[in-house]
Amino acid sequence: MKYTSKQIIDTFLNFFKANGHTQIKNSSIVPENDPTLLFINAGMAPIKKCFTGEEEPVSKRMCNIQTCIRTNDIESVGDRHHLTSFNMLGSWSIGDYFKEGAIKYAFTLLTEGFKIPKEKLYATVFCGDEELGLPADEESIGYWESVGIDPSHIIKLPFEDNFWRMGDGEGPCGPCTEVFYDTGDEHGESYEKSGVFDTKKRYLEIWNAGVFMEYYQNLDKTYSKLKFKSVDTGSGLERLLLTLNGLESVYDTEIFVDIMNYLRENSAKPNERSLRIICEHIRTSVVILNAKVDPSNVKAGYILRRLMRRALRHLRTIDANDDMFIIIAGKTIDNMNNTGLNPDWNFTKEELLDKFKIEQDKFSKMLSQGLKVFNEYILDKSNIVDGYLKEELVFKLYDTFGFPFEITQELAEEANIKVNEAKFNELLEHHKEESRGANLAVFKSGLADHDPNTIKLHTATHLLHATLRKILGNDVHQMGSNITPERLRFDFNFPRKLTDEELREIENMVNDVISQSINVVREEMSPEQAKASGALGLFDNKYGDKVSVYTIGDFSKEICSGPHVANTSELGQFKIKKEESSSAGVRRIKAILV
Ligand code: SER
Repeated sequence: MKYTSKQIIDTFLNFFKANGHTQIKNSSIVPENDPTLLFINAGMAPIKKCFTGEEEPVSKRMCNIQTCIRTNDIESVGDRHHLTSFNMLGSWSIGDYFKEGAIKYAFTLLTEGFKIPKEKLYATVFCGDEELGLPADEESIGYWESVGIDPSHIIKLPFEDNFWRMGDGEGPCGPCTEVFYDTGDEHGESYEKSGVFDTKKRYLEIWNAGVFMEYYQNLDKTYSKLKFKSVDTGSGLERLLLTLNGLESVYDTEIFVDIMNYLRENSAKPNERSLRIICEHIRTSVVILNAKVDPSNVKAGYILRRLMRRALRHLRTIDANDDMFIIIAGKTIDNMNNTGLNPDWNFTKEELLDKFKIEQDKFSKMLSQGLKVFNEYILDKSNIVDGYLKEELVFKLYDTFGFPFEITQELAEEANIKVNEAKFNELLEHHKEESRGANLAVFKSGLADHDPNTIKLHTATHLLHATLRKILGNDVHQMGSNITPERLRFDFNFPRKLTDEELREIENMVNDVISQSINVVREEMSPEQAKASGALGLFDNKYGDKVSVYTIGDFSKEICSGPHVANTSELGQFKIKKEESSSAGVRRIKAILV
């Protein structure tokens, strides 16, 4: 029997509902009230507080289908089954059944609901980690054997594979047991006991059949016991479609097949990997755009931009017509509607396609500008050393002109010049460390000097930061700051020059707050409390136990070690002296107080 997405979803949800699980609503892929995550990356993310007891679950047994985004898999896209967005079928027991129940449900649904012969199934379990004080999961082995999985199909794997946590930060976690489907001899050697278990080609993971949540990962990477034990499971719909229908890859499923064929037929130089990357990235871009994120140079917007530009770059590789970006996006939206895998639309199809068009135009503009600079560089022979284009120029193309490295590489190849990728990556790392350091210095160690004017300008910097976010949008973040007794200098991400009108509006808003004579209040709290209170800060960096938070009315709230003035009335008049580009996608404002 051929399965459609809808049949798989219905079979999954009906099975769990028949076993007492309540279907909960799915969430937007942009997390609400969780600054630790850019995107929802698992079905459990929106309900993570239920595992610690901080929140009451709707029911002790729940299930749903949740769109997830995982861009750390971006480089794997193009293989049989890795995707940057997918639909996760999830089920949960919160303080109810544990390992035995979860394994029984998984086995029954797979063998009876989806009629998979048990010989096709393999299960992995956690082998324990002495150093971390985490025992092996012998119980799960016993339960898999008791439902009928042959012991030779049960594989013990280490922490990296079979201990699930949300990431490196703190949170509920536990050993997990995953189910793999054997896609057959044509996809590689069969697994021999104690040999290598190939999870890339032949054996595909179809279900994380149970994360056995009984620990809490602390920030210092120690593990405490949770108050009660829970189960979190998740299965990728797209992989089930591929395996249950015996297909070669997810691109042969109803989610992609027609779009792939269309693109293949309408490109001059199709290659399979590029076709896959284009279709996959455009699909994820539709999902992210619909969640009201626009392409930008930071955070979620940056990921979106990267996906869109990567798709555009591969469209060049296959020599497709310029319109193809929009055509494929349109077909993707239609296909989502036809398969029933559409998000709740926040925009019309036309509105979404307009957003694709805007980014495409920006990309074309960037390309022609970068191309001009590249051609100037290679005309000057002193820029080519031992056949290589100087690495600082390769980096400048990337950093100042936003030119993707791969395109420089492509152009260089055509001009018979080499580029050194390792050296480029070195510069990139160095640059990242520098900006990280600069940001940290701003948030952590306060000011370079404590001149009264510097302190005033420091408070004005907070007002400017808050104002920029109010006027230009919450995507705007501080990228750097430097304050002397004479002036403040503030760098922030923004894609274009500010208009005179915007600059006037910013000045007026800052001056308006100054004139309201608002007290600047300092409070100490834990980083978690600061985060929960909505204070701006770099939560991906480790703060100490306590941070100080400066609040200016309901206008501004930032983690900062000060010092600041006591009341905004001390500041005088705020004046912007200059607005200019600092680097690609980063603007710089210089301002004074008079
Ligand atoms: N949270 C687990 C995972 O993502 C189960 O869904 O694998």
